[in-house]
Amino acid sequence: MPTNPRKKLIAANWKMYKTPDEAVAFIKAFLPLAAPHSHAEVVLCASPTLLPAVVDVARHHPIRVAAQDMHWLDQGAYTGETSPLMLMALGVTHVLIGHSERRQYFNETDESVNLKLKSALAHGLIPIVCVGELLAEREANQTAEVLERQTSIALSGIDPAAAAPLVIAYEPVWAIGTGRTATPEIANEAHNIIRAQIAKSLSPALAASTRILYGGSVKPDNTATLCACRDIDGALVGGASLDPVSFAKIVANSAA
Ligand code: 13P
Repeated sequence: MPTNPRKKLIAANWKMYKTPDEAVAFIKAFLPLAAPHSHAEVVLCASPTLLPAVVDVARHHPIRVAAQDMHWLDQGAYTGETSPLMLMALGVTHVLIGHSERRQYFNETDESVNLKLKSALAHGLIPIVCVGELLAEREANQTAEVLERQTSIALSGIDPAAAAPLVIAYEPVWAIGTGRTATPEIANEAHNIIRAQIAKSLSPALAASTRILYGGSVKPDNTATLCACRDIDGALVGGASLDPVSFAKIVANSAA
């Protein structure tokens, strides 16, 4: 079997944690630990209040910085929102789109994910689009249907010629923050479903080159087996990314 040609990407999703001082302290502790592990790209997804400090301290290092969400419009009367122009002006390079917590608590829909994805690509922000089924959907054998629907609506109307930067994260909702990781078999099967949908929606070439990350209770001790799977190209890490030692171990263990 040919080896996976896609460079690993390990992203920390800090959710609503850390102050600017804590974020800077994290990066200073993390950098020397992660320095020997250049096999993977590292992205930190931080709250808007942390972005200037995180961009500043990461600037001269191989760490990229992501927002956890954005509006799709450049500007407007949308209190509390952050626009792609604001993120670009700060030096942010990536953006999470459609995280299940946004879908669950903040009314994110497949349609708004699609608008955000189009906007991110148009602005040169690298999108990390999150998809994943609920426990009830998995138990009702609807996983493939849910993943195909979320992926196909997210990608609807996307120009394949502009889609090369796209990253997808498969995050089964039942595995997020529960300590219940998907088995490598379950995760790899879901990644295959998503990859097949990318082939249909965009092109087989993009399906082969698009990185699909796994997220949901990724820890240092389960990273290696997950990342060894043919279709798993990295991880989106919540709780275990808050500590620099633990996150550096995940980066190290993702070499496969
Ligand atoms: P946990 O790693 O805490 O399960 O969170 C996963 C996640 O939601 C990352 O975006």
